Amino acid sequence: MRKTLVAGNWKMNMVADEALALAKGVVQSAGEFGQTEALVCPPYIWLSQVNETIKKSTVKLGAQDLFWEDKGAFTGEISAAMIKSAGCDYVIVGHSERRQFFGETDRTVNKRLNKAVDSGLIAIVCLGENFQQRESGLTSSIISSQFENAFLNFDQFDKVVVAYEPIWAIGTGKTASPEQAQEVHQQLRGLLEQKTDKYDTIRILYGGSVKPGNAAELISKPDIDGFLVGGASLKAADFVGIIKSSL
Ligand code: 13P
Repeated sequence: MRKTLVAGNWKMNMVADEALALAKGVVQSAGEFGQTEALVCPPYIWLSQVNETIKKSTVKLGAQDLFWEDKGAFTGEISAAMIKSAGCDYVIVGHSERRQFFGETDRTVNKRLNKAVDSGLIAIVCLGENFQQRESGLTSSIISSQFENAFLNFDQFDKVVVAYEPIWAIGTGKTASPEQAQEVHQQLRGLLEQKTDKYDTIRILYGGSVKPGNAAELISKPDIDGFLVGGASLKAADFVGIIKSSL
């Protein structure tokens, strides 16, 4: 009932010709994606060009972030309207790298989320614990607190995808086991249930060292509805491999 979503977060990778080649590589295999939705999230600067490459295919476009103001003197920032006009349907919000390196807080995640959905974008809201928090048994309380703060006074859950990305598994080659991931996804499903009676229709993605070789086992879990992929989304063959393993 929930359509699997596999999203590639290219992060700060790819110069122009690489970005176009990667987008083309994904589009070439799009006929084999079945019911699975594929999404690419290139750096802002390549959004329009990647959109030209993918727009006739089923592959969707997303941005990696947005600013919550409409326009004005905010040097270096990108608005929801800009992202939409570049062809995006989706935007990532609250990625742990934004939290870690760029001062993102639960409060600013909430502001970005509201602007994204008010502008007609689907927001992929990221949350996850770090290694110390997991080791100290704090995973579940961190997840609850990030969830409650991100979705404070929010009710447009039909425009939301949640992504569980344990920080200790991002870019480290360590993946959460399917059981560890399912445990948190189940908790998130319960938190969604407290907010909306449509909780069963909302996709919860897993992110953290997803590869073609571990995707099938993860997707077999009942509350894992797809992936947010970093490193392995930078090679078309690997990204396509993950999608095919998720069918
Ligand atoms: P990796 O797949 O490189 O671990 O990155 C995950 C991620 O942060 C996706 O947003």
